[in-house]
Amino acid sequence: MVGTLRPGLVDALTERYGAPELAELDPVDAETVEVAVTSGMWGVRAEHMDLLPRLGAIVSFGVGYDVTDVEEASRRGIVVSNTPDVLTDCVADAAVGGLIDVMRGLSAADRFVRRGEWAEGRVPALARRVSGARVGILGLGRIGGAVARRLEAFGCSISYHSRSERPGVTYAYAASPLELARDCEVLVVAAAGGGGTRHLVDAEVLAALGPRGFLVNVARGSVVDESALVAALESGRLAGAALDVFADEPHVPQALLGRDDVVLLPHLGSATVETRAEMTDLALENVERFLADRTLVTPIG
Ligand code: 8YV
Repeated sequence: MVGTLRPGLVDALTERYGAPELAELDPVDAETVEVAVTSGMWGVRAEHMDLLPRLGAIVSFGVGYDVTDVEEASRRGIVVSNTPDVLTDCVADAAVGGLIDVMRGLSAADRFVRRGEWAEGRVPALARRVSGARVGILGLGRIGGAVARRLEAFGCSISYHSRSERPGVTYAYAASPLELARDCEVLVVAAAGGGGTRHLVDAEVLAALGPRGFLVNVARGSVVDESALVAALESGRLAGAALDVFADEPHVPQALLGRDDVVLLPHLGSATVETRAEMTDLALENVERFLADRTLVTPIG
C-alpha cells in the first residue's frame, strides 16, 4: 500500500493479502511485492519502483492517475489500472452542484441567513440564472460528457474543447481553451491532470471568460493557474468559481477563504458511500485479476 488509503480498502488488502504499507516495509520483504495499491492523491513514482524490483502492477484508486509515473512504469513493464466509470456520475453531480451553488450564491446565502442578516431585514444581492446559460466544458471525457448531459436538461447551450474534436458529438467544438472561454459564461474543467494539461486555464483564458464568467473545476488543481485565478477574482475580472480541487491540497489559498464569490470544496467529487464502495471493489478486482493472470480489469489508457 502506497500512501494513505481509505479504511475499507486497507482492511480488505490487509485481510486478503496481508498487504503492508510501503513506508513500513523492510527491504527484504519489499523484494517480494508484485502489486502496489495507491490512490489518485498519492501515486507511485520511480523512487517507489526502485524499492520494489518485482513490481508488476500499480492499482490506483480513483480515475486520475497523474501522480503516478506511468511512463516510468511502462518502461519497466509495470501495468497500471485506475477506477473509471464508477465515479463518473458522482463527480458530474458535484460539478453541477458547484455550478449551481456559485451562480445562484447558495452557500453564500446560507452564510447570510446564519449571520442573521436576513432576520435584520437585509436581502442578498441578486444571483445569476443557471437555466439556459452558455457552458463550456474543458475535457469532454467520461466526466465532461456526464456534466454536459446533465446541463442539457437545464436548457444550457454546451460547447467543449478536447485534444481533438469528438466524432458524433453535436456540441460546438472550440479549437482551444481560449476560444472556448470567449464563448461561454461558465467554464467547467473536467480534463485529466498531468503535464499536458498544466495551467491550461491561465490568465488569458480567465480574462476571456470575463467579469461575468464563472469557473468550475472538478479535475485537478494543476489544470488552472491558481494565482491567476485569485488575481482575477480579487480584481473583479471573474464573477466566481466553484473549486473541488486545488494546486496544493489540502491547502486553499488564504485569499479565497473570506470570499463569497467562491465555493470551496475538499476534493469530494467521488466521495459518496455508494461510489467509494464501487471504487474499492474495482480496485480490489484489479488486484485479484493481476494476481490470477497478470492482466487488469480496468487498465489505464
Ligand atoms: C478520488 C479523484 O477522491 O478519482 C479521482 O481522480 O480525484 C477522486 O475521485 C481520489 O483519486 C482518491 O484519492
